[in-house]
Amino acid sequence: MNTIWSTYVQNIGTLYDSRSLRFSDFFQSKYKEIFEIEDKKKILEIGCGPGAFAESLSRWYRNAEIFGMDRDSNFITFASKKAPQVHFSEGDATELPFEEESFDVTISNTVVEHIEPSKFYGEQYRVLKENGVCLVLSARKGINISAPCIMEESDYEKEIWQRAEKFYDQTREKYKICAYPQNEAEIPLNMEKYGFKNVTTEYVTVNLTPDNPIYPKEMAHAMINANRQGDLDSIESLLHVAGDVVTESEVEELKRLVNAKYDKRLALYDEGVKQWDTNMSVTMIVRGIK
Ligand SMILES: C[S@@+](CC[C@H](N)C(=O)[O-])C[C@H]1O[C@@H](n2cnc3c(N)ncnc32)[C@H](O)[C@@H]1O
Repeated sequence: MNTIWSTYVQNIGTLYDSRSLRFSDFFQSKYKEIFEIEDKKKILEIGCGPGAFAESLSRWYRNAEIFGMDRDSNFITFASKKAPQVHFSEGDATELPFEEESFDVTISNTVVEHIEPSKFYGEQYRVLKENGVCLVLSARKGINISAPCIMEESDYEKEIWQRAEKFYDQTREKYKICAYPQNEAEIPLNMEKYGFKNVTTEYVTVNLTPDNPIYPKEMAHAMINANRQGDLDSIESLLHVAGDVVTESEVEELKRLVNAKYDKRLALYDEGVKQWDTNMSVTMIVRGIK
């Protein structure tokens, strides 16, 4: 039973909501054009977290069998309930619990920087069939601008976050989060180094700006609420990473303040008062062939 990631690093809600938007059907053609795996039958997602991307893949590739694996038990329990059509299982990406040459595609999103490269690529190479496709998605620097009504922070809030700050750095070190950072050249270089051929790089941008009129109301609300969930999860995790210096009642008060701000943000959206907050993600997609 391993629950480190979902407890100390990123909660289920934060990952599920943000990925459901980033891999929403609204953007599927951007990804599918680059993936080029239309005819593939067995797809394995490595480090699938709570499963939002695998769920999207199961809609985008209806003739394929989708598998998702992750080390965190909470993610796998959640994902299995949300998307029973996907075969989710617990496991370690450095020792994939699958036979040699059993998949046509391996794919991962924001996992490459957490796993030692010879193991990360070596294990995917092993489980891929001849001519199988390895797809590595990596989040690069995007643009993140909060709504003015959400940015306003009271001295009370500032003081608590300052108190907790150093504990976050300690957590990253303790659990080896992002222990293998790689830049935009190093990811494809490593993919080649560990045996993949015909390596290509592409980028997909996803512009999540609720006030942009191209988005229907339901999607704009989902964008605002995904940010809300991320902020609430960060507050909740204070008790795990900085439990010695932050009390439960402070956490409850922070949540109340944040919820009030997001309720206001939603009300402004509904009234047509623009805030132009934006979350523009840039995803690098590195593709190679066994
Ligand atoms: C940044 S999260 C991304 C999760 C998911 N791909 C997404 O985009 O929502 C990194 C994930 O990698 C998983 N992970 C890290 N090291 C792993 C390992 N050695 N084996 C399996 N999963 C691992 C974590 O549990 C976590 O779910």
